[in-house]
Amino acid sequence: MNRRLTVAMDGPAGSGKSTVARRVAEKLGYLYLNSGAMYRAMTLLAIREGVSPTNVEELVKLAQSCRIDFADNGQTTLLNGENVSEQIRTLEVEQIVSDISKIAEVRPAIVNQQRRIGNKGEIIAEGRDVTTVVFPNADLKFYLDASVEERARRRFAESKAKGIDCTLEQIKEDIRIRDEKDRSREHSPLQKAKDAIVVDTTDRTIDQVVDLIAEQIISLQ
Ligand code: DC
Repeated sequence: MNRRLTVAMDGPAGSGKSTVARRVAEKLGYLYLNSGAMYRAMTLLAIREGVSPTNVEELVKLAQSCRIDFADNGQTTLLNGENVSEQIRTLEVEQIVSDISKIAEVRPAIVNQQRRIGNKGEIIAEGRDVTTVVFPNADLKFYLDASVEERARRRFAESKAKGIDCTLEQIKEDIRIRDEKDRSREHSPLQKAKDAIVVDTTDRTIDQVVDLIAEQIISLQ
């Protein structure tokens, strides 16, 4: 019998969770839910509407009135029907998304949208709080991690490939700061769920991690 499982995966920046979640979803024909993309879409909307990251009341109204969806099995992010996949990756969005996503009052509206998308199962959700807050009853939970050095090396290689001028030391420092912010924020901090399977990706290839996770899912279906 094939059960329509809900799979949730959290982890720090550079742990490989986005690539792994997307690839596992492709392999199994599951829907890939990138929860970070939804906070980015909400941030883009705030920028467009001229709403400041400190204007909680207006931000809540925006979060409650917008509709965020995915197409092409999670590759395309739609904000009120418009394809914003590229615009949510700009530096402008990058710089304020953590200020908006840390606001407690904004999160419930986005979490509701994540549950709306995920409620039929056959989904792999990925983010910072999908194992703890969004889908606490997920059938399978994973926590992906890797050493700071390895995560910095991965981000460094990605940045170099995009032609961005940076040093490995700078990236390592950025990762340390982002880890600290993600783990210490008051609402929905990044933490290992008690029932999550921890996968250390430091010395594993993407293919090895994808296979390991896909096997666990298949064995439970
Ligand atoms: O994974 P990402 O870098 O695209 O996430 C963008 C931002 O959204 C990041 O600052 C953390 C935040 N985020 C969150 O607060 N909760 C999630 N479940 C996913 C991302």
